[in-house]
This record gives sequence, C-alpha cells and structure tokens, in this order.
Amino acid sequence: MPETKKLIHVNDEKLEFHLTNQHVSYIFRVFEKSRQLEHLYFGKHIHHRGSFDFLIEREPRSSINLNERDYTSSLEHIKQEYPGFGTTDFRYPAYELEYPEGDHISHLVYDSYKIHEGKPKLDGMPATYTESADEAQTLEVVLKDTHSSLAISLFYTVFQDRAVITRSARFHNSGDKTMKLNHAMSLSIDFPDKDFEMIHLNGAWARENHIERQPLFKGVQSISSARGASSHMHNPFFALARPETTERQGEVYGFSLVYSGNHLGQVEVDTYNVTRATMGINPYQFQWKLRPDETFQTPEVVLVYSDKGINGMSQTYHDLYRNRLAREPWKNQTRPILINNWEATYFDFNEEKIIELAEKAKDAGVELFVLDDGWFGERNDDTSSLGNWTENRSKLPHGIEGLSEKIHALGLKFGLWFEPEMINKDTPLYQEHPEWVIHMPAKPMSHGRNQFVLDFSNPDVVDALFSQMDTILAKGNIDYIKWDMNRYITEPFSTILPHDQQGELYHRYILGVYALYEKLLDKYPDLLIESCAGGGGRFDPGLLYYAPQAWTSDDTDAVERLKIQYGTSLVYPLSSIGSHVSAIPNHQVGRTTSLDMRSAVAYFGTFGYELDVTQLTEREMDQMKAQIAFFKENRQLVHEGTFYRLSSPFDGNDTAWMVVSDDKKEALVGFYQVLAQPNPTYSRLKLAGLDEETVYSIDPDGEERYGSDLNTIGLLFSENERQRGHFWSKNGKTDFHSWIVKLSAKD
Ligand code: DGJ
Repeated sequence: MPETKKLIHVNDEKLEFHLTNQHVSYIFRVFEKSRQLEHLYFGKHIHHRGSFDFLIEREPRSSINLNERDYTSSLEHIKQEYPGFGTTDFRYPAYELEYPEGDHISHLVYDSYKIHEGKPKLDGMPATYTESADEAQTLEVVLKDTHSSLAISLFYTVFQDRAVITRSARFHNSGDKTMKLNHAMSLSIDFPDKDFEMIHLNGAWARENHIERQPLFKGVQSISSARGASSHMHNPFFALARPETTERQGEVYGFSLVYSGNHLGQVEVDTYNVTRATMGINPYQFQWKLRPDETFQTPEVVLVYSDKGINGMSQTYHDLYRNRLAREPWKNQTRPILINNWEATYFDFNEEKIIELAEKAKDAGVELFVLDDGWFGERNDDTSSLGNWTENRSKLPHGIEGLSEKIHALGLKFGLWFEPEMINKDTPLYQEHPEWVIHMPAKPMSHGRNQFVLDFSNPDVVDALFSQMDTILAKGNIDYIKWDMNRYITEPFSTILPHDQQGELYHRYILGVYALYEKLLDKYPDLLIESCAGGGGRFDPGLLYYAPQAWTSDDTDAVERLKIQYGTSLVYPLSSIGSHVSAIPNHQVGRTTSLDMRSAVAYFGTFGYELDVTQLTEREMDQMKAQIAFFKENRQLVHEGTFYRLSSPFDGNDTAWMVVSDDKKEALVGFYQVLAQPNPTYSRLKLAGLDEETVYSIDPDGEERYGSDLNTIGLLFSENERQRGHFWSKNGKTDFHSWIVKLSAKD
C-alpha cells in the first residue's frame, strides 16, 4: 500500500476542486457567475496550485445566448461538468427531466461538497470498490435546482495509485411533486479540442469485440445498445486517443461503463472543436418517475487516462477490474480448468456419456466439469423447457444430485448451465404466469431462439427463479454456474408497471438480474459464476462484479479468437476471458487448426476444453495432458501478470501478445501466424515489460538473452546460418501456426 497522500484538494475560497494522484489530475470549479460547474482539466498529473484560473478558457463571442444581466456566461462557451438542458447550451446535456409543470428547463447550481474516505457503495448497483478507506477518496458535489426540489450528487473517486477517476450521479427529489427523468448520464466531460480518434469494440454474434478506430468529426458520434443488454454489437466502452497514439505510446482516455443494460457512449464535437464525451444509460426508451423523496442512482463510469498508449490504458483497467471489481473469493483464486460438454454433445447426452467425458477429462488433468444446456425439463433442442429447472430424468436418471455425486467422486468440481431470464411456453411457469413474460398483451410477441424474456423488473419473478435455482443448488452441490442469456428484449412492456412507468422497464430489468446474482451469491458465496449471452453479448464490467469470468464468444475457432480476445483485452483482464480448445473442423467456421494452435490461443484466457475427449487419439490425449500441465504451471502468471499486446490481428497476418509476472521473473509469449508465407521476410518480435538487466532463459529455444535486448531487438523468428534447433525451423510449417515461448529469469 503506497503512503496515504492527499488526493482531493479544495480551494474553498474559489471553490476549485483538484483530484489528483501521481498519475492523473481532474480539475473543475464553480463558475462564480452562474454557480454551475466548470470543467478545467482531465489528464496527466499536474502539480497542485493555489489557483487554476489560468485554465479558464472562455472566448466572448457575438450571437450567443446569455443569461439576463450577464454578458459573459453563456453556457454554450463554458466547458462543463454536468450540463443540463433548457438554457444557453445547445449541445447534448448530461441530464434532462420533465418538471411537474411540464417544462424541461433545469437550473441546477452548486450547493455543497463532502469528501468521503474510500468509496461509498452505489445503491443496488455493481461498482468498483475499495478494501480500506485509505485506498481512495470520493468527492461528492451537490447541485440544487433553483426552481425545484431536485438535487443531484456527483460522485468522483480518485484512488491512491491508479490512473483512474470513477464518476456517477445520484438524483434526489426532496419535494412533494413527481418529476420524470428522461436522461441521466453517469458523466459528461468537455475536452478543449477534437484532436482525437474514437476507439470502440464493435461486433455481432460469433465476432465480438472487433476494434474500430476513426477520427472525430464535427457532430455527434456514438456507440449504444437498445437491446436490453450491453450487446454483441457495442461493448459499453470507448476511448479517445490522440491520432499518434499507438499501443505503447501516446495519450488515450478510456470510458468504461459498469452496466449490463442499454447504454450510450456519445462524443459531440461542437463548432469550436470542443469535444463533449458522455456516457451512461441509453436515454432512448428510458424514463424514470422520480417521486417525492426518491433517489435515482446512475451506474458508474470508470475513466482511465494513459500516456503510455492503449496498452497502458488496458493494463490500468485489468488491474482495477481484477482486484477492485471482481470480488472475493474468486478474484485472486486460481480458476479451475474446465471441460464443457456443449460442443461435444449439444442436447444429445445421457448420464453415461457425461460420466465418460468426465472420466477422460479428469484423466487429462481437467478440474471442473460443466454440464451445459439440455439437462432440464423436456429439453432436447432449443424449442422447450426454459423456466422449468428440474432435471430431465430420462437423460439423468439419478438427477443432478446423483450426477454431481459421481462427478465429485471422480475428483472433479461440478458446474451447471442455467438461462434464468428466459422461458419457453411449454413450461408450468409459463402456464401459471403468462403475464411474467415481457410483452404487450394486445400486440404480437416476437421470439428469439423460440424463447421469451421473463420480466425481471418484477421482484416476484426474481424470487421465483431464485427458488428454482436454489432447489437445484442446495441438493446438487454445485461449484460453478454458467449463466446464459440468448436473446434480446423485444416488445418492451411490463404487466406490473403502470403505463407511465414503462420507460423504467429496461433499467429495472437489469436491476432484477443483479438482484438475482446477489441473492445467489449471498446464499452460495463460494459459487464461481461465468456469465454468457450467446457468447459475448453481455461481457461488461457490471456482470464482472458478480461473475468474474465471461464466455467471450460462441466462436471457438482459434483464428477468429485472435481478434475476439485481442479486442476484449482492451478493457478486460485475461482472468475474465473465457477461452476453450474446441473440436475441428471448427463448428462455427469449419476451419481446421492444430491442437497446438487451439491451445496456444486458449492459454491467454481462463482456459478449458469444449470437445468430445472420448474421440481424441492417444497422441492427442497426451498433447491435452501436456497442455493442461503446462497451463497449471503458468496460470498464475497468465491471470495475474501484466498483459502486453505486441502485434495486432487487425493489422495483418501475425498476432502476438505476452504476459509478464509482477516480479518480472517470468513471461509467456504467444505468437501466431494465420497463413504460412512462402520465402518469407525476416521477422522479429519485439517483447515488452521485461526487466532490462535480467538475463532470461528462453524455452524451448534454450538461448539466454537480456531483457533489454528482448525488449529492443526481440525474438528472431527467422532461420539463419546459426542453425537453430527444431523450434525455429520452418520445416513442416503450415497455416495457422503458433509459438508459445516461456521466459524465465536466470538466478
Ligand atoms: C449459447 C452459449 O454461448 C453456448 O456456449 C451454449 O451454452 C448455448 N447457448 C446453449 O444453449
């Protein structure tokens, strides 16, 4: 723990706030004329000063709208902290609401501030946390409406030793009239120029988290979801990078929303090149009734600043999300190597087949057996039984309890698949409660994969699902859950919400999902949960708070996974990236890759298998045993080390990445070549993060090299007259080739 330093400086006379640590500074003030908050700076740490007046930047202009009796304070020309709607600023606001009188005009001004040691919890919402009060300080600034009973508390946390500022907002109605919140972003920040490129993670089912990067333009650009989940299409993350910023050099600002529902990340560049970045719950189809004495808490945004390139930003997110978002007991615990039966059997299995798979897997060194979809109700395909979480006795004559006993007797942990938020019409639950499905009774209802979405905004639904799952968990001795979610929300209408509260459905739904996670983890605190949504459809920081790992994609092809895992690593640590070795030809793209290549990609994640191990040849079984033994030796390094992206699959034929242990004594490099090259050019892979003065031995080459020359010159992947051993040989090289290199410091 670094020495406790003052993290929040307040100039009480000028009402200027400076949140800072050795990495970042975040500065804003109360604008003396309008008493609104004026943003001054966010970026690399700068020295604290008595006054930051020199950062005030306002240009008097003609043709502007001014407050009455005032000639300098048009909000259009002030960089703001949390802009409202309705007066002299015409850009998108951070919040907007309808007052009881019907207008939407807000006049919230500075009221007071408070400093909290540590980081207060967010009501009912996942968020990053501190373990002791001296790890961080939180500034709470209260704004009050001059014409109504609305107050907004803005929360800013600065940590002792992280290049991070977290922000969220809480609305409170202390009056006796109801207001309607239409727009409640978690943060807004005005940068003084537009010299940025926007980076974000775009995708679809089976090709999640592909990196996009475009220069900002004047106007509005955004990423969003209106699907009821964070979605395959846009991860709730974007970054603003300087055009010259690379993986390891240059400035970049990251924005990551700790939320699993509809989100919006928006960047608006105005005509003066001021860049306003906002992020939060998607205002589209959102409305919240704020009754007297009610509060509304927005989710949290984690802002990261890096002057060490995009990789520097990722490392900050990885460390924070691994240690202060994921929770005990799993955050620092070795994750079991699992086998999942999905791609081995799909719905077609029985107890005998499962035990056969488990025995073989155990023999190879696997630690956890996961029984996927198809173990309940009458489920033999995807048309039935979701919502009926009782064992299918014709497949499992001894039930989950009996199967679990047998799996445990083999010395394996046992995990089970659920899709708690979904229902099929053939279930008793649906027959009893058709009104528990999200739909508008008078209108047609769409299905997705033959299933319908349960109304998790209804606490009775959450309780009913908890009770069904609890019954299985209590008797089944379950160690792990794969929590799936295979469709988005359509016909958004809740039969329990009044007509003027339908805009609350999406958010209440996600709060219901979080509530079920909480209930399960309260009762079964040792449960390891892996979240999943048809692969990576809800891979977000909100769920990582409960489920420290996520199934990254239904695409298990090693080549496709290079892009998916590379993109995912922009924000999420390797310990959260679910990665399996699967069968060939691959079930999603039909590609055949070697077992080596498949494992070499899956090593850089949680690692597991998803194939019919009973079909492996003896040689393949030996390979599998060796892979598992190798991963067991290296998983702490992979899951807790510092990750470096070295070569991007989005740029060409090669991909490379590596992890370095905290003490820099060990490192693991993965290098992948998609297509074999005839008569290739020379190829050197510059490494990163190694200790310059340390001599490392290189396995399997057997060479010894200084960290300094590996960092500056790199590994040579071409043959030369020195007649390297077989490892470097090009003989037998094929498409989809991989190299795994282990570096260990010489004593
Ligand atoms: C989608 C998941 O992503 C798969 O891994 C598998 O669990 C199936 N659902 C089962 O229906």
